[in-house]
Order: sequence, then C-alpha cells, then structure tokens
Amino acid sequence: MYLTKEEEQILNGEAGETLRQAIQILVALGDIYGADRLIPIKSAQIAGVSYKTIGDAGLEWISDLEGQVKVPAILNPAGMDLEDWERLRISPEFAEKQKEIVQAYKKLGIRCECTCTPYTLEGFSVNYGDHLAWSESSAISYANSVIGARTNREGGPSALSAALLGKTANYGFHLDKNRVPEVSVSVECSLKESDYGALGYVAGKLIGNRVPIFQLRSKPEKDELKSLGAAMAASGAVALYHVKGVTPEACRMDFEEPEEKIIIERSQLDEVYESKGKEPELITIGCPHCSAAELKKAAELLKGKTVSKETWIFTSRELAERYPEYIRTIEESGAKVVRDTCMVVSPATNSYSCVMVNSGKAFAYVPGMCGAQSVYGNMEACINKATGGKERKAGDSH
Ligand code: F3S
Repeated sequence: MYLTKEEEQILNGEAGETLRQAIQILVALGDIYGADRLIPIKSAQIAGVSYKTIGDAGLEWISDLEGQVKVPAILNPAGMDLEDWERLRISPEFAEKQKEIVQAYKKLGIRCECTCTPYTLEGFSVNYGDHLAWSESSAISYANSVIGARTNREGGPSALSAALLGKTANYGFHLDKNRVPEVSVSVECSLKESDYGALGYVAGKLIGNRVPIFQLRSKPEKDELKSLGAAMAASGAVALYHVKGVTPEACRMDFEEPEEKIIIERSQLDEVYESKGKEPELITIGCPHCSAAELKKAAELLKGKTVSKETWIFTSRELAERYPEYIRTIEESGAKVVRDTCMVVSPATNSYSCVMVNSGKAFAYVPGMCGAQSVYGNMEACINKATGGKERKAGDSH
C-alpha cells in the first residue's frame, strides 16, 4: 500500500505511540484487503462503548490512547443511560466503569452522544459519496444504502484509528466495483412498518455478506429502510443494499440485473411474527434508536394509557431533548424513555426471560446477547402488549 512521506513518519512512530498504533491497524487492514492508499474520511462512528461488551481490557486500551481525533467522531450506544442509569437498576460498579469509558473517549475529542443513528443529529451531516469509517452495523447499512455514503464494516478499534488519523484504507465499499448488486430479491407482497424488519431478518440469512438489490411492491419510508438494513446486518452481514426506484445508487446507476434471484413470500415473514406461546415480561422499542417520527407514533399510541408491563423506548439524548412533548406523553403512561443505550448493549435486559421487540435486529440479538427469548410485533402490537389495551383511569399514577 502506498504511504505518503508523512504517513511513513507516523508509521515510524515520529508522531507518537497512539498514532503509530492507529496507522499500523489501518495499514494491516489495507494490506489484507488490497487497498492502494489511505483516503480522507468525513466522520467516524465508534462502537465498543458498552462496558458489557468491551470489559476492563477495552477500557484499559482506550484509556492509554492520547491525542485528538482529526474528524468529527461520535460514540455508539453505551451500556446505560449516562444520566438516569439507576432507573433501569444498573449497578453502581457498572456505572462507574461505563463513565470511565465515556470519559476516556471524550478526552480524545469524541462526541459522547451515544447513538446508532448519528445521521439524525445536528452537526453530524452525511451526504451522498462521503467516505466514512463507521462501526455500528445498522448505521453502516443506513449510511451506505439510504444515504449513498461509503463505509466498510469497521470494528471499534479501526474506526477509532481512522478518527485519530482522519483517514481510512481505500478498499471494500469505498470502491465502485464492490457496490454493485450481486443478488436480486423480489418480495411477493406489499409491506408496511415492522414487515421491513421481518423481511431483513429473513433476507439477511439468505444473503450473508453480499450486496442485494430489492424489487418491492411498496415504497418504504426512511424508518422502514432503517429497520430493513439493521435486521439484514444482524441475521446476515449485509452492509449495503439497494432498492429499485428508492435508494440513491439504484436510482442513479445503471446496474445490471444479478443472475441469482431470491423470492420472498408473505408466509416467510409471518413466521417471524409467530410468538409460539411465549409471554414477554419486557417490551422494548427503538432498535435502531427511535427517530422523531417513531417517538411521535409511540406517544400517540400511549396517550391516555397505562403500561402494566415494564416498557422501554430507546432514542438519542438529542432527539429526546428536541421533542419533550412526546417524551412527556410516553412517560405519563409509565413507559420509560431511555437515552444513550439500548436493549441489546445494556445489562438491564439480562434480568428478563422474554422480551417483545419491533426490530428484526433486536429479535436476532436479544437471545444471544441478553439470554432472553424474543417475540416480534409491530409498534402497535408492542404497545398493546404493554398496556393490555387499557385506557388510563382517573387516579392512576405514573
Ligand atoms: Fe442500535 Fe442497539 Fe439496535 S446499538 S441498532 S439499538 S442493537
């Protein structure tokens, strides 16, 4: 891989140990995947934040790093709401470690709004064609597919290295030739809302890590594309997909029809919704983190109702602050709006044995990451399960 004189000096340690380690990671990846050089990136999104997933070894590694990031960089969800962590009964020991991790990242100049939907935040814009180094799989999928930006599936350390250098190795999804669809997927029914997460869950298993192009009968909204991509990245390893007539590259580029064709029928999606007699104790919404439209919908569905099961709705701190009226309505029902974390990366979920979700990604991950069964439904079904469909009576308190 070609390195400039300055990059060679960094690799020789002339700019300090942190940058030497950072460039070593990028050069090693570049050599494995055949990159020709390093290219500048616009931003980085760094996973590996929850103490539940990185533990003491991760904390130690981050704490030893020095310097400042060269491009805007932001964190993925942590293991708890950074301010209101006691509400989900996080232990003080866990909270202490989690705060140390966030502080260690902050010292490097990284924005500590912990979210997997950074593209919804003020001052973190992403545009078509931008090169990025992002590491949360649903955010990667959204950036590549829905926005038309370019990022590989970075790991936490490589995204952090890219942030510190302001560069990444030029391979994989940064190159046109790797963004071409390899398999075509036709869906034989029209879809709405959580059907897209169910489709992603089914399709991801069939597609693996290839690039699909979908032919759909219905036109998805952005939140529906977010759910589709998140689920495919979890049940498979899809980092980029196209939807004919919808996603930007499918509209601008003249892709050839792939030879391999997959057909998905309604009955395959219906299987995802089957609860098989499982009874959820916990209801969770917001994987990926809820958008403004999803918070609004949750508020409308919960207005005037009281939850009788523990109910958590996850979003970013910034969106929660921007829409206090939705948060108030949701919390008047007894449901909790939780910032900075999610049902998968927080240890709080581990105390439940069955969790209802409206996300194909959470449906795939909750069993392995939280040791609980998962049940799938749309947002309305989740809220009906949470409230038992009951209106709030005068005198109910929350
Ligand atoms: Fe985001 Fe957590 Fe889901 S990081 S995509 S809410 S598993």
